[in-house]
Amino acid sequence: MHKYAVLVSGRGSNLEAIINSVKKGIVPSMPSMVLTDNSSAKALEFAKKAGIETCFVDPKLHKGKKRMGDEIVRLLKAKGIDTICLAGFMRIIGKNVVEAFPRRIINIHPSLLPMFPGLEAQRQALDAGAAVSGCTVHFVDEGIDTGTIIEQSRVDVLKNDTVETLSARILEREHAVYPRVLASLLNGSLLS
Ligand code: GAR
Repeated sequence: MHKYAVLVSGRGSNLEAIINSVKKGIVPSMPSMVLTDNSSAKALEFAKKAGIETCFVDPKLHKGKKRMGDEIVRLLKAKGIDTICLAGFMRIIGKNVVEAFPRRIINIHPSLLPMFPGLEAQRQALDAGAAVSGCTVHFVDEGIDTGTIIEQSRVDVLKNDTVETLSARILEREHAVYPRVLASLLNGSLLS
């Protein structure tokens, strides 16, 4: 049985969707840990409510990508965790983490990659005048949103869309897509 951690930095709506999907039997098990780089992340409330162990890795104590990564690997390995699900973790994962969990780290991004990687993907889509955007679940490598794409879902950009309205429609799609992909990674039906 694979054990997984969800890494979060903020609001935690994708974590909430994962927890709800466990309750519905779509995802086979609860996360073994919710790890954050932000001690005031709202996501921690969802974790605590569901009785999931939480862990704060303080970037001020572990300066730089390498040290932060070493600490994350140490904490997860100590719990026997072999799979990582990034859910709004706004930090670039170091080479050490990628190498410690080969093809076992997934991320969700609010655009149709390779279009609009990095920050504010929804704003980038609007600024570019894109007619279509969406979300992408991908394996994480050392680049920024560059890993192998697992699944994508298209969302039309509407004429009067703002960053808020487009983000909300994409987010709704994220909540449907991400738990399903996580489930397939955990039950072995996704060839990694
Ligand atoms: C989501 O829209 C997710 O796709 C995005 O951050 C949001 C987190 O929301 N991630 C990225 O942009 C990663 N590059 P949440 O905290 O409510 O799940």
